[in-house]
Amino acid sequence: MSASETYGPALERDIWHIYREFFDLAERRRRWNLRDDIPWDQCNPATSPAVADVVESFCAVELFLPDYVGKFLPLVRGTRGRAWFAANWGYEESKHSLALQEWLVKSGHRTEEQIEEVQSWAVIGEWHLPTDDVRGLACYTMAQELATWLHYRNLRKLLAGSDPALDKVLGLLAIDERAHYDFYVKVMRLHLADDREGTVEQLRRVLNGFSMPATHLLADSRRRVEQVRRLNLFNEDLFYAEVMLPILDALGVEKRELKNRAMQKKSLPAPTA
Ligand SMILES: [Fe+2]
Ligand SMILES: [Fe+2]
Repeated sequence: MSASETYGPALERDIWHIYREFFDLAERRRRWNLRDDIPWDQCNPATSPAVADVVESFCAVELFLPDYVGKFLPLVRGTRGRAWFAANWGYEESKHSLALQEWLVKSGHRTEEQIEEVQSWAVIGEWHLPTDDVRGLACYTMAQELATWLHYRNLRKLLAGSDPALDKVLGLLAIDERAHYDFYVKVMRLHLADDREGTVEQLRRVLNGFSMPATHLLADSRRRVEQVRRLNLFNEDLFYAEVMLPILDALGVEKRELKNRAMQKKSLPAPTA
């Protein structure tokens, strides 16, 4: 069943308007150029290997783009707002992986051959959608975009300007991730107005079982997740304070509401990613 059959043409029309606003704003204020807008001559080769490892992990997660777009688009092909967003989102995410790869090579932390090897992980392992429910996916993507923004912002803070090229890359990526998050907050507000109980249930499932996409598919995945924790870029406490609470606030959902429902409906399984 397509999203428009499930959630109705009025809601999908509203999403189309949200997308048009999102796109106009992106064209006016947010477009950046990979060659011209990053001071590549100011990569710092002395930036720590631990930071380079984490950048490589971020880059690898972005490399699963063919799965993210390829598996999502067929679900939303009948609804313009969601489908056009996915196409534009894919373009922006493809730039993210390019910028991260570029920094790894230009800073001297990785060779082209090493980058090619990273690329092969995304070919070997396949990412699967955490759910095939369109509203559930909107909910997951909203949380994932804010969590990704948090990773980039925290790494940028940690570097404190010591690598001007990476600082700029992370700054540009963080702005994009925030815009993706904002789009999905607006979509989720529509879903809440349409069916509060069902949407809160989705929120509960996503927020209680959240993990970043594709991290389990990377070579050495446990060490990579550990490195992110060690640098204090992302952990359970940060997720709670800087992802979960801001989402509930943005959507006007009470923590209590989420818990009550959890107690009533314990039997529902959590999503897998
Ligand atoms: Fe991204
Ligand atoms: Fe994003």
